[in-house]
Order: sequence, then structure tokens, then C-alpha cells
Amino acid sequence: MNRIHIVSNRLPVSINVENDDIELIPSVGGLATGMRSVYKEYNGKWIGWPGLASDDLDDQLTAKIEEKLIEEDCVSVHLSKQEIDLYYDGFSNRTIWPLFHYFAQYIDYTPELWDAFVSVNQKFADKALETIEEGDTIWIHDYQLLLVPEMIKSKKPGVTIGFFLHIPFPSYEVFRILPWRKELIQGMLGADLIGFHTFDYQRHFCSSVRRLMGYEISFNEIHIEDRIILVDSFPMGIDYDKFREAATQSFQKPLQEKSKLHRELEKYFLVSPERKLILSIDRMDYSKGIPNRLRAFSKFLEDYPEWIGKVTLIMLAVPSRGTVEHYINLKREVDELVGTVNGKFGSINYTPVWYFYRSLPFENLIELYSSCDVALVTPVRDGMNLVAKEYVASRTNRTGVIILSEMAGVAKEMGEALIINPNNINEIASAINQALVMPLDEQRERMIFLQDRIKRYDVFKWSSEFVKSLSKVEKIQNSFNAK
Ligand code: ADP
Ligand code: G6P
Repeated sequence: MNRIHIVSNRLPVSINVENDDIELIPSVGGLATGMRSVYKEYNGKWIGWPGLASDDLDDQLTAKIEEKLIEEDCVSVHLSKQEIDLYYDGFSNRTIWPLFHYFAQYIDYTPELWDAFVSVNQKFADKALETIEEGDTIWIHDYQLLLVPEMIKSKKPGVTIGFFLHIPFPSYEVFRILPWRKELIQGMLGADLIGFHTFDYQRHFCSSVRRLMGYEISFNEIHIEDRIILVDSFPMGIDYDKFREAATQSFQKPLQEKSKLHRELEKYFLVSPERKLILSIDRMDYSKGIPNRLRAFSKFLEDYPEWIGKVTLIMLAVPSRGTVEHYINLKREVDELVGTVNGKFGSINYTPVWYFYRSLPFENLIELYSSCDVALVTPVRDGMNLVAKEYVASRTNRTGVIILSEMAGVAKEMGEALIINPNNINEIASAINQALVMPLDEQRERMIFLQDRIKRYDVFKWSSEFVKSLSKVEKIQNSFNAK
């Protein structure tokens, strides 16, 4: 197999510098957690941003960081404070992210953000061009780098390029709002294979290509003069066995080796085995529907008061994009809502919502997944949502219920979950009750199907299907050229 290099905005590890000490922290988010499990197989480099501003680094520190990253097969693209502001916080997260998640009212159309997006995409492309050799394959990821495929293809047409979008691709009627819509499509079309999580996103993309560019598309092949571009859907999976094994080991640990969190969770059930836990885990992002979830939980306690004192919602939110206005406002709203619910239904002995605003180590994530009776996953839009799959994999005793938004890509693969509309507070409230009273036999019946499916199409299968399609498109292109 050819070497495959990965290019993404964020590296799988982010760098934290304190008193000249360099610490590598695993990056959070579906792209990083998923690709981290597979990229070593490809013998290539992972090119990306290590998560800090280059203005704060002197030459010596930069060299030390490079050294650390090379040990992880990573190559860094350094970004200045201004680039972070205009390209990352800016066009990526104030323009594309809201547009692709149907938050049209949040879109920032400032032209300077676009200019920075172009120049930083060029920076990533240049770094990739320095790293790749003839015959290599390159796999570019996500919405921050939509222009990179074309920037590489125009310089090295012989390199095979894959592109995967980890977020939804919106319908044409939404996508067309953007002044730079054609440029984004042109950028993506530099790739030989373009992958999406679901067929719907693929269909939306093809519709934009047809309407904006007028290119011919037959089945899933786009024909542009002498080039053929393959478009397909690949629902991303998780490292199933890793979650499964970690959950199994977590239960077998002797008491003294259990984490503080684990012991606290066990204590919660000691008070009364009838007590239940509901789990929600996300980055603090407005696409995740966190306020709706809290309102629905409040409605549930109001409609089913017999559960007051017996059910706790554990809400874990990882800080994310904290310098972008809409994320700051969201944090404020969530803080207030948590206070309102706890103030309304809590007592000396009962806190309805346990709220953690931080990242937790893998060990704690597993403990939460395996201890909670219900997972409440209610995004208003989500490309996939790997948290739902991680919950399924961690349920070693095959019980547990998922309440899942129909707006998450993962809903297509999880018909056995309780599917809800995230804007329907009453529906979520009654789904919470349904999940809590669901007989164990029914829970197992649903969970067995879910586990079989998530195990079969794990992250390794996902990436190997993508890579197989990349070789296929190479062959199609070669036979087309030979004609
Ligand atoms: P997104 O990619 O939009 O953040 P996903 O649900 O697809 O959403 O992926 C989130 C990933 O981040 C999951 O792999 C999850 O395990 C990880 N994660 C989420 N919250 C935390 C947390 N508090 N601490 C550590 N990892 C987290
Ligand atoms: C989503 C995106 C990723 C991104 C992640 C975390 O999963 O698809 O590209 O890396 O969120 O967001 P951040 O802005 O911290 O990289």
C-alpha cells in the first residue's frame, strides 16, 4: 500500500506549554478520536495545527515542539494569533460551521475572514506539498480545509487525494447563501474521492455541484473534462474493541484502583438501587442542542414528579471555541439553565443535574458510559455523533437506552434507539420516561442489534473502505486516461 498522509486543521494531540515544559494533550472531537486509532497504519505523516499561537513561541521552543511532534509522526502548521482569529475562529467557525449546521442567523460574511481562509489553506497545502512524494496518497479532513484539495491537485496532479467531510453538507438552498460557494466547491473538487457520513450529505453536495458548476454527474462519478471524481458516503465508526475492553476492565478493577468518580457513582446507587443516571456528553457547541436537553429534562421532572430525587442527569460539556461569541453566549445560557433546574427541583439531598464543564480522561468517560442507564443525545444538527456509538460499545451487560436526535447522522444507523426531534421538548420528556421504565429484556433486544452493527462497521472498517475507494478511483482514472 502507498503511504497515506493525513491533513487536518487540528493534530490528534494539542500542545500545552507551561514554564517551557511541553505537554501533549489528546485532542477532543470526532475527527481526532476516530483518526487517532487508524493513522499509524498508513506509514505517513499527520499534518496539522498543534493548537497554540506561534507568536508566543521562540525558535528554541518551536524546535522542541517539532521534536515532540515528530515522535508522534506529526508535522505542524503554525498559526499566528491573527490567523487563529480570522481563519479558525473566523471563517471556519463563524462562517462555515454555522452555515453547514443550518444556523444561518449566526453566519459572519466579513470578507477579511475569507481572505484569511484562502491564505491559511494555502499554508496547509504548502506544508503538505513539502511532505509528500510522488506516488503518495493524501487524505484531507474537514471543513477548515475545503480549499486544500484543489491547491494540491493544481501543483501535483499525480498525487491521489481523498477528502472527508466530518460535518453535514447542507442542502443547496442553504449552501447557496454563501458568497464564496463556488470557490468552496471548486476547492473540494481537487480531490479524487470525496466522502461524507451519510447519503443525504452526499446528495446535497452533488446537487450544489450540478446547480453551481453545471458538471455532469452519473451515479456517484463527477466528470470534469479528463478527470473523474468519485463521491460516496462512509459513516464513520469508532474503535469498538477499545471501548468494550476498557469498559470490561473498569468493572473488574479492585475498589482501591477505582477512580474517585467511579467510587462516587457506586455510592450514588448504594443509597437506593432504584436510582437512575442519565448521561449527556458533548463539546459545548450550539449544534449539540444542550439548552433543549435541559429544558426537556426539566419538563420531564415536571410531568413525571415520581422521578424527582431518583434520577440525575450527568452533563459533561467540554470547553470548545471559547473565543467565538455564540459559544460564549451558549455557555452563559447553559450555566443559567442548570441553575434553574437545580434550583427548581433540587433539595439538600438531591441535585438533579451534575454539570462538568471540562474535558475528562478516557478512564472517566468509560466509567460514565458504563454506569449510566440512559444516554441523552439531542443535537439540533450533527454530522455523525460518535458519543452515541461509544455509549453502545461500552455497555458490556447489554442494557441501557439511547434517546437520539433524528438530526444526527448516526440516527441512520440506530433505528433501535428512541428517536426524537430535538426541538420537541414534550417528546424528549416522554422519551426519558419511556427509557427509564423500559424492561431489561427490551433494552437488551435493542442493544444487541446496535452493538452488532457498530462493531461490524468500526473505525478500521470505515477507513479501509475509504482507502479501498481511493484505489478504485485511481484505477478508473487510469483506464479513462488510457482510452
Ligand atoms: P464532535 O466531533 O462534534 O465533537 P462527536 O460526538 O462525533 O462530536 O465526537 C466527540 C468525541 O470527543 C468523542 O470521541 C468523545 O469521546 C470525545 N469527548 C467528548 N466529550 C469529552 C470529554 N468531556 N472528555 C474527553 N473526551 C470527550
Ligand atoms: C468537530 C469537527 C472537527 C474538530 C472538532 C473539535 O468534530 O468536525 O474538525 O476538530 O469538532 O473542534 P475544534 O475546533 O476544537 O478543533
